[in-house]
Amino acid sequence: MKSSAPGKIILFGEHAVVYNRPALAVPVNQVHADVEVLDSSRAGIWIHAPVIDLHAELTSLPADHPIGSVILNLFQRFDISQTPNLEINVSSTIPVAAGLGSGAAVSVALTRALSSFLSHPLSDDEINPLVFEIEKLHHGTPSGIDNSVITYNMPVYFIKGQPIETFKTGKPFTIVIADTGIPALTKESVGDVRRLWLKDTNRFEYIFNEISQISLIARRSIESGRPELLGELMDHNHELLQEMTVSSPELDALVSAAKDAGALGAKLSGGGRGGNMIALVDQLKAESVASALISAGAKRTIITEIQ
Ligand code: MEV
Repeated sequence: MKSSAPGKIILFGEHAVVYNRPALAVPVNQVHADVEVLDSSRAGIWIHAPVIDLHAELTSLPADHPIGSVILNLFQRFDISQTPNLEINVSSTIPVAAGLGSGAAVSVALTRALSSFLSHPLSDDEINPLVFEIEKLHHGTPSGIDNSVITYNMPVYFIKGQPIETFKTGKPFTIVIADTGIPALTKESVGDVRRLWLKDTNRFEYIFNEISQISLIARRSIESGRPELLGELMDHNHELLQEMTVSSPELDALVSAAKDAGALGAKLSGGGRGGNMIALVDQLKAESVASALISAGAKRTIITEIQ
């Protein structure tokens, strides 16, 4: 049984979304996690995930291992005490610790593949809360936006704890994604923001409210077919993320390089500190902005059309 799940980018509202402000995210289907579950003649449940250098039997994994937890949670949910012998192959083209949702995508693909293999296929509405529980192991206090956009594989307008809303694009637009190549754990930047918020709550609440407005206006601009308005909103969102201390010299350098090469706006995307940035571009300029980003030090770029 095979299953796949896409990567994601946050267009607007990362970090503020942890504090109940709205955020917008879209799936990125050019990169994906793939999971295959097979019957095995070897005793045990063997997991092979070469991208994280994991080749292990389930019982040898620590209790809070995200992959092991997905598997054990499903056995528990389906009341399976006699576990079958399995080989589980996990592969992914989503860079790890880069803000593209690699952990959530593996959890979604694994939940889908294993539940189907066990003859209990789950719906997206059932998968999403299960993967949210696993996200807590990765991130501590996740908002739930990553698992939602990846499970439903649709653009989402997300407010923590509220039913997921999706949005339609009035006119397609093009985003260049560029990877600093610097791994960064979302858990750490989210934790640092929490400490700063506790220290200077008024300032951070002000920043979160500004970001809230940005997400609202961005959604309207996208739905009404005026994506060119997103450029300025991205620039402003990036400044606010800088103020929150989650940018980095490398992210800032790529943001400037994108702007210099003609992008309409640019910002970091995801947890920050490293990982990826995104730039809004005129479709005809996508290739030249992408090569300017490589010249400025990006390790790789992805051009994606948001439909
Ligand atoms: C990570 O992709 C987005 C953050 O807002 C964390 C979260 O929402 O869980 C930084």
